[in-house]
Amino acid sequence: MADPRKLPKIIAVANQKGGVGKTTTAINLGAALARRDRRVLLVDLDPQGNASTGLGLAPEARKVSSFDLLLGEATPEEAAHPTANPNLLLVPATSDLSGADLELGNRQGRTGLLRGALRQPLMDALRLDYILIDCPPSLNVLTINALVAAQSVLVPLQSEFFALEGLSQLMLTIREVRQTANPSLRIEGVALTMVDRRTSLAQMVEADARENLGDLVFQTVIPRNVRLSEAPSHAQSVLDYDPSSAGANAYRALAAELLARES
Ligand SMILES: Nc1ncnc2c1ncn2[C@@H]1O[C@H](COP(=O)(O)OP(=O)(O)OP(=O)(O)O)[C@@H](O)[C@H]1O
Ligand SMILES: [Mg+2]
Repeated sequence: MADPRKLPKIIAVANQKGGVGKTTTAINLGAALARRDRRVLLVDLDPQGNASTGLGLAPEARKVSSFDLLLGEATPEEAAHPTANPNLLLVPATSDLSGADLELGNRQGRTGLLRGALRQPLMDALRLDYILIDCPPSLNVLTINALVAAQSVLVPLQSEFFALEGLSQLMLTIREVRQTANPSLRIEGVALTMVDRRTSLAQMVEADARENLGDLVFQTVIPRNVRLSEAPSHAQSVLDYDPSSAGANAYRALAAELLARES
């Protein structure tokens, strides 16, 4: 499927608010794209390593990490670990990432390290269509690296009161990155997560998001679904864990929507 001359599309999955569904989205959107025959690399850029654990890579199996890739101490082929799905590769996170702020300090070019790593010619050997970056819940040097490396940002927005208020800091940061290191950075879309459409609160949040953000909001909404929260403890995406669940349907639909926008 992958055309070796085509550069992969790099999407940062980011929101500085914790627990809004970044990792769930990165894993399951990645798995859904992989099921559609796209070659996907998930880069776990969160020291918590939830995406790595959720895809079944235990800490002791993480020989080479996203921190090594960032520092240029590993090649993309060394850093990309296989997962249960042959089209889905993973650069795992290790806890060294939590020292990145200190370690990178004021090092020149420290916000462009991931961009350099993901755009090096050695990446071609992985024949990727998509790179998804799972960001930590902070606007720290790691998230900035993701925003500088990416073509676009996908923002999971948890369906709750005040959800939109939390977006302004992220939008300001995106604007700053555009004004400096990455002028072409786009917003891929805002995905409403953990939605329970039976509640009037969820309906209100969705209406509010669509009114304020317009077409930036994906048509697909991700429902609150217990299968999505169970899947990581089985080291599986929801597409493997329970392919007929509402959560699996939603992430397949999100992948279809993303692909349709690009065709
Ligand atoms: N649609 C959903 N339905 C039910 N549970 C969900 C859903 N999405 C995420 N969860 C659960 O909510 C919790 C937070 O989700 P997740 O880890 O994806 O968020 P996150 O934004 O990556 O968090 P962090 O900011 O800590 O990295 C997890 O326990 C996850 O399993
Ligand atoms: Mg996470």
